[in-house]
Amino acid sequence: MLKGKDLLSIHDLTSDEVMEILNLAHELKAKQKAGIEHHILKGKTLGMIFEKSSTRTRVSFEVGMYQLGGQALFLSNRDLQIGRGEPIKDTARVLSRYLDGVMIRTFGHEIVEEFAQYASIPVINALTDLLHPCQALTDLLTAQEHKGKDLKGLKMAYIGDGNNMTHSLMYACAKVGMNFASASPKGYEPNAQVVANAKLDAAQSGSTIEILNDPFEAAKDADILYTDVWASMGQEAEHDERVKIFKDYQINNELLSVADKRAIVMHCLPAHRGEEIAEDVLEKNANVIFDEAENRLHTQKAIMALLMG
Ligand code: CP
Ligand code: NVA
Repeated sequence: MLKGKDLLSIHDLTSDEVMEILNLAHELKAKQKAGIEHHILKGKTLGMIFEKSSTRTRVSFEVGMYQLGGQALFLSNRDLQIGRGEPIKDTARVLSRYLDGVMIRTFGHEIVEEFAQYASIPVINALTDLLHPCQALTDLLTAQEHKGKDLKGLKMAYIGDGNNMTHSLMYACAKVGMNFASASPKGYEPNAQVVANAKLDAAQSGSTIEILNDPFEAAKDADILYTDVWASMGQEAEHDERVKIFKDYQINNELLSVADKRAIVMHCLPAHRGEEIAEDVLEKNANVIFDEAENRLHTQKAIMALLMG
């Protein structure tokens, strides 16, 4: 039962809860395509706190809430008193008196944890420096659409920076029995605690987690190749240096040649063509990549309906 809970990390969910989210997301997607009304959150409100930029998250949460019969409020830290130093713990308690749920996109993961500790309403992590669970759950949904509902035994290879996407994808794969391999330059590997947590989940679901430095070793026989930007939000000043360090970590045709012949390429977007992904590879996989973007809507509607319904 997800009702009333927070969604801060996929590691906190059981495998059954992950499947519950995916199953409802498929159902809501079908309903929306068929024009069947599904006002599960009629009269409810979601606050959307953004301390970082967003295109997909902002629009998909707001539209999703509307399609569920509720209303979303965009709350930028430039306008909230948080931006002038009002404590998180006070903001959390105040907003809990008005809203039925809140989603937060911020820097430190401890900020959403503190918010959730003080809030009495469900809190959804809409990206922190550590995790991006809504995107990784969406990626499972998209993988199911392109590779079949049962993801057990498939291999996902993540190529590039060991960042928030790497962490959440690792957690997501471990929950559904998908094998996961990442390849990052030395010093840019994923967080050791996240890897240790994911390995515990993987042992339960019978899958494997491999943290590597060689992109070709990671990509070998992979069913899904995944990448994300080399410099995340907040790391803009490191961009030029990172481009040099990550130059051998691009998803291109050479890397794809060692993956499974039917491999698909995924990207959470926004993409930097010619950096983490070659232009032709992105365009050849545009059907998958823009399905991923669309599926943010359906997956987050399922999350909101289950947490706030
Ligand atoms: N993938 C993703 O979260 O995109 P936005 O930054 O545009 O929300
Ligand atoms: N790793 C990226 C993901 C953007 C959706 C970032 O944090 O900027």
